[in-house]
Amino acid sequence: MKHEIIEKNIGIMIVLIVLTISGGFLAEVVPLFFSKEVNEPVAGLEPLSPLELEGRDIYIREGCHVCHTQMIRPFRAETERYGHYSVAGEFVYDHPFLWGSKRTGPDLARVGGRYSDSWQRMHLYDPRSVVPESNMPGFPWLFEDRVDHTKTAGKLKTLQTLGVPYTDEQIAAAEEEVRGQFEIDALVAYLQQLGTVISSKR
Ligand code: HEC
Repeated sequence: MKHEIIEKNIGIMIVLIVLTISGGFLAEVVPLFFSKEVNEPVAGLEPLSPLELEGRDIYIREGCHVCHTQMIRPFRAETERYGHYSVAGEFVYDHPFLWGSKRTGPDLARVGGRYSDSWQRMHLYDPRSVVPESNMPGFPWLFEDRVDHTKTAGKLKTLQTLGVPYTDEQIAAAEEEVRGQFEIDALVAYLQQLGTVISSKR
């Protein structure tokens, strides 16, 4: 039988596996590189401000993305709860993406503007002070530590080389913008803009 020949010959097997996977890649993935819908920013999308960008790095450092996704799927149950489903054009300036796959807590893709700054601060200091049944940990040290301003300009510059449209003036002013700010200010600034470029019908 022909199949037996393939199963008993690892060389042919490897070649056929590589061909199959390459074929799938060419058909499914390569066309996306050229599709406007997934490559171009949605109208009104701006790169994160230096403070928001530092907030994003704190979000990653503290592992918020381990419990929270930033990806609203186009299902009724999700759009009713979280707002308009996420579209690819919202994420073109994100490096790396923080879509996530595990929801211990709610999706945060459109949490921007849902709560006041002071609610966000109280919740991050001690989640159970505002949501008694919460099992989210508190992050009180964010209220004591200041943002490390020495690397901010370098971060913007790196993103610029990756195609995020920061201007040289923005990069030059970045350090001053975050100097002396508390980490909580950066994190809340980041949270408050999440998903706001597409108005969520809630
Ligand atoms: C161990 C898992 C866990 C981690 C880590 C975690 N959260 Fe949460 N988060 C939750 C849970 C569970 C809830 C729902 C209960 C509540 O509101 O406190 C929640 C709720 C929230 C909400 C309210 C969302 C809404 O729509 O009501 C925000 C905002 C939030 N988290 C932000 C963060 C940020 C920022 C971090 C990182 C500094 C973080 N979380 C880390 C589990 C987590």
